[in-house]
Amino acid sequence: MIPEKAPSAVIVLAAGAGTRMKSRTPKILHEIGGRSMVGHALLAARSINPRQLAIVVRHERDLVARHVADLDPAAVIVDQDDIPGTGRAVEAALQALDAEQLLTGTVVVTYGDVPLLSGQLLAELVATHEQEANAVTVLTAVLDDASGYGRILRGDDGTITGIREHKDATEAERLIREVNSGIYAFDAGVLRNALGKVTTDNAQGEKYLTDVLGLAREAGGRVAAVVTADRWQVEGANDRVQLAALGAELNRRTVEAWMRAGVTVVDPATTWIDSSVTLDEDVRLLPNTQLHGATRVARDAVVGPDTTLTDVTVGEGAKVVRTHGSGSVIGAGASVGPFTYLRPGTVLGESGKIGAFYETKNVTIGRGSKLSHLGYAGDAEIGEDTNIGCGNITANYDGQNKHRTVIGSGVRTGSNTVFVAPVTVGDGAYSGAGAVIRKDVPAGALALSIAAQRNTEGWVPANRPGTRSAELAQAATTDSSSTPASTEEGK
Ligand code: UD1
Ligand code: CA
Repeated sequence: MIPEKAPSAVIVLAAGAGTRMKSRTPKILHEIGGRSMVGHALLAARSINPRQLAIVVRHERDLVARHVADLDPAAVIVDQDDIPGTGRAVEAALQALDAEQLLTGTVVVTYGDVPLLSGQLLAELVATHEQEANAVTVLTAVLDDASGYGRILRGDDGTITGIREHKDATEAERLIREVNSGIYAFDAGVLRNALGKVTTDNAQGEKYLTDVLGLAREAGGRVAAVVTADRWQVEGANDRVQLAALGAELNRRTVEAWMRAGVTVVDPATTWIDSSVTLDEDVRLLPNTQLHGATRVARDAVVGPDTTLTDVTVGEGAKVVRTHGSGSVIGAGASVGPFTYLRPGTVLGESGKIGAFYETKNVTIGRGSKLSHLGYAGDAEIGEDTNIGCGNITANYDGQNKHRTVIGSGVRTGSNTVFVAPVTVGDGAYSGAGAVIRKDVPAGALALSIAAQRNTEGWVPANRPGTRSAELAQAATTDSSSTPASTEEGK
């Protein structure tokens, strides 16, 4: 439900200290689904297109303000003074926004630590508020355990008469299970007038935003609620136990949404997908796979098992098995893994391969080229249809600087070739096993670095007498036509 007209403002409250996190990081900067809690809150707030978006800060003010400015540069950052309470926080925001132009219409209040609230539910709140021409519309939920929350007070006819904070509530009021989520739509004028009358005369000595409901009613306004059946959307994280629970629920929702969009997830319980990831239809995710950041996976690709990708683009039909990768691009039909470490700047061309026990960094690999087993490729460029043999290494670092290796197309390198960068290998060149490439190799050349092999006859029996090796060597050299005696004895 999209409201007919956009709200004038959304005010996100984020001044609280969040001491129960026991963290040097401000509470609302803790992440779930790859995004800070306040990041989720800002996205939900933005999604209903408010004309203004303000966020109230105080605890760790500079850190929070910088983070918010990165995520949403247009958000107005408002400082709360040392008068405590949600009412004071909203009052500060209203004063800041009014300074430009006196606000009219609908003002929405949300929290920076309620990360699962959806834009859809916010839009529903605003739509109800405006359709019913309410003075205040509060988002509520009915909980089994309501302790700690403000309770919704209703008259005999069901109309809302006010909100009572847990600490100020009587025993009878504490039995009420309908709670205040802390998320509201207000008429700007009603809010401004009521906040002027709110005092700190309560158990916590704070200016309660909740007092606005009773005051609005006394002033003749309609106060109503939108009751949500989805308690997760109004749940805040106060400690790390709640943070993990919210994170798991967010992930459950994300994974379910992708499955409904056509992604096969073999084991939803061990598959973690950040909110920022995008997946095509017919992607298959195998167990224990984590997809983070700006990762994108194209149609028919298979990722996992046991794979973690951060900011990786996986092309159509590619296979990525037991891989740890970041900042990389895997071409269509390419294959990666098992046991592969892709570091930032790896670009694997279409139908290419980076196989087992390979580490790559800052390397562009052309279409159809294969680095199949055991090696390191860094600061390099490899052409098309090149085959890099087992155990090849780009020696890219001289202890002070990094240098580039450029390898052409159609190249075949022998096992254990080392490229001492900077070095260039031309198209169609070959290298022999164990070659140490220190000089450029012209196109079509065979590069060998031969240190002549020397066999010292009889060295083992002379220098390792009495060992099994010496015994077997002696048996093999004394009489090669009969079975060695020592082998007989050794039975
Ligand atoms: C508040 C509500 C309560 C509701 C509950 C839902 C009031 C008086 N009570 O209680 O009815 O059930 O939320 O979670 O509003 N904040 C500020 N400045 C302040 C105080 C708080 O910005 O001076 C922010 C906090 O950062 C937080 C939010 O407001 O995001 C709620 O604050 P909190 O202290 O958690 O309120 P509760 O006492 O839980
Ligand atoms: Ca709270």
